[in-house]
Amino acid sequence: MCGIVGYVGTQQASPILMDGLARLEYRGYDSAGLAVHDGKQIHIHRAAGKLSALRAVLASEPMNGTCGIGHTRWATHGAPSEQNAHPHAWGKVVVVHNGILENHAQLREQLLKQGHKFSSQTDTEILAHLIDDELKDVTLEQAVTRALKKVNGTYALAVLCTDFSDRLVVAKNASPLVLGIGEGENLIASDIPALLAYTRDVIFMEDEELALITAQGVKIENFSGEQIERSPKRVNWTPMMAEKGGHKHFMHKEIHEQPRALADTLAGRLNSDHRDVTLDLFKMSDTDIKKLNRILIVACGTSWHAGLVGKFLMEALARIPVETDLASEFRYRKPLVGKDDLVVAISQSGETADTLAAVREAKDLGTNLLAICNVLDSSIPRACEHALYTHAGPEIGVASTKAFTTQIAALVMLALRLGRARGVLQDATAQHIVDALSALPEIIEKALEHEDAIARIARTFSSARDFLYVARGINYPIALEGALKLKEISYIHAEGYPAGELKHGPIALIDEHMPVVAIATKNKSYDKVLSNLAEIKARDGKIIALCSEPDDRIRELAQFIIQVPTTIIELEPMINVIALQLLAYHVADFNGTDVDQPRNLAKSVTVE
Ligand code: AGP
Repeated sequence: MCGIVGYVGTQQASPILMDGLARLEYRGYDSAGLAVHDGKQIHIHRAAGKLSALRAVLASEPMNGTCGIGHTRWATHGAPSEQNAHPHAWGKVVVVHNGILENHAQLREQLLKQGHKFSSQTDTEILAHLIDDELKDVTLEQAVTRALKKVNGTYALAVLCTDFSDRLVVAKNASPLVLGIGEGENLIASDIPALLAYTRDVIFMEDEELALITAQGVKIENFSGEQIERSPKRVNWTPMMAEKGGHKHFMHKEIHEQPRALADTLAGRLNSDHRDVTLDLFKMSDTDIKKLNRILIVACGTSWHAGLVGKFLMEALARIPVETDLASEFRYRKPLVGKDDLVVAISQSGETADTLAAVREAKDLGTNLLAICNVLDSSIPRACEHALYTHAGPEIGVASTKAFTTQIAALVMLALRLGRARGVLQDATAQHIVDALSALPEIIEKALEHEDAIARIARTFSSARDFLYVARGINYPIALEGALKLKEISYIHAEGYPAGELKHGPIALIDEHMPVVAIATKNKSYDKVLSNLAEIKARDGKIIALCSEPDDRIRELAQFIIQVPTTIIELEPMINVIALQLLAYHVADFNGTDVDQPRNLAKSVTVE
C-alpha cells in the first residue's frame, strides 16, 4: 500500500504535500515524489529511498505553486527506484496512485502498439497514458472516468493536468481516499493523518466515485456522472491515533487489514477460469517444474510456520515431497540440495540474516530458488531467481499477522501452480480451491466479528503463566503460530503441540492452572481432537476450543468456545489464525505490555 496526498488552495503546495507524506510514511517508504503546477506547467521531483531523499531534492530545487499531488511508495510492481517512483506523467497528465491494476499488462501492450512510450515498470503509469488519450473535447473529470472504465483493479488516484492550475481530480475504488475540507483550500489523502494539521473536517470517498477538487470546494460524482452530496465529518483523533487508523496499536490495525491484504495478494493472479494461477515472477516452465524432485522451505519464526502449512499444501495439491527447515539450522547442516530441487525462502522483511544466509548456501549448491516476500527487491528476493510477492503493505507491528496470512495465500497459489504444471491437480479441484480463495477476504471479515467474545476470554486468562496450544494436521502449524503470538507480545510462556503428541509427555503439564487452546474445527481430525480434549478435561485442564459450529460434544468438553467461519481444509489455517492473533493481542493489551514493540524483539532480525 502507498500513500497519496493532494492540495489546492492559496498556500504554497509543496511544504503541505511533504508534511502530508511524512504522516503517511507508515504506508510505504521506498521512494517518493511530488508534482506541483506553477500556473504555467507542472514540475515533478522524485527520489528513491526515504522521504528525506526527496526533501533534499526540494531543498536544492524548490517548487512553486498552489496546486499539487504527492506520493510515498510501497513497491508492488517495479523495483523501488526514482524511475518507478510516482508521480508518473504522459502528455498533459500527471498521476499518483495507490492500488493494483490487474489488467495493466494488457493495457500497456495496447498502448505500446499505439506508439506510447513507457518510462517505468509500474502498473500506475498506464493511467497517465489512458487519461491523456481521453482528454480531447471533454472535462478532466470525464477523461478520468472514461480511462478508469478500461481498468480492472484497485485505486486511490489523484490527477493533475497542465491545462488546469486550479484543480485536481481524484478517484477511488477499494483503496482508501479521504478529502480534507478547509477554508479556501482543500486536500486529499490516503489516510487522515496527512490532513489533521490543516483540517479536521473530512469526507470519505466511496468505491467507484470521482471528485473535482478546487480551492473553493469539492464536487463528488459516481462513474455515471451523477452528483453525490456528502457532508464532512469532524475527526477528533490525535495524529498518532490517526496513523493507526483509530486502532490502539499497529498490530490491531494490521490484524484488521488482513481481508484487504489478502485481496491485494490475490489480485490479478487467479486465472479467470479459476483453474490455475498466474505468478508472473515465478518463471519455472511446466517442463522444469515436472523435473523437480523435492521442495525445501527455509524461514524463521512466523514465516517458518507459514512454511509448515506450505508443506501440507504442496504435498497434498502438487504431490511433491516437501521438507521445511529453520533457516538457522539449514545453513549449518551441510544440506543436500541440487539442480532438481526448489528452495523456497519465506520472509516478510526480506532481510532476515539467517534466511538470507540459507538462500546463499542453497544458491552455491546450484538449486532453484524462490522467495516469498512482502518487500519488493529486498535482499532475499534479490538473491533468488524467482519471486512471489505478498501485497500486505508495510507491517509495522513486530508481531507478524497480515504478512503471515498472505504468505499462506501465496503458498496456496504456488501449490496450485505446481500441481497444475505436474498434471496432478484436476480442473474441478483447482476450481474448488480458487473459488474458495476468492471468497477468503469476506470469510476473514466474519472471523474478525468474534473479537469481543475473544477479548472476554483473553481477560479471563490474562494472569495465566503458561498456555498450551494443540491442533492436528494442517492446523498444527497454527497451534505453533498462536503460541508464538502470545509469548512474543504478552511474555507468557506458551507452547504449540500436535494434539496427538500430548500423551507422549506434555499431558504431564495439564492441571487446573493450564489453559489449553485447541483447534477443533469440523474436518477429518475432529473426532481425534475431541478425544484429546477429553484427556485434557479429565485432568482438569481449562479448554478454549476453536470450532466451526458448537455441538454438544464440544460444549461438554470446552470451558470456552470461539466460533470460527468454515472454509475448505486447505484454507482453514488463514481463518483459524485470526482468532489466535486476537486472543494474543487482547491478553497482551489487557496486561499492558508493549504490543507493537515487545521487549527484546526487532521487526527484522538482520543479525545472526
Ligand atoms: C513473528 O511475529 C516474529 N516477528 C518473527 O518470528 C519473524 O516472523 C521472524 O523474525 C522472521 O521474519 P521475516 O519473516 O521478516 O523473515
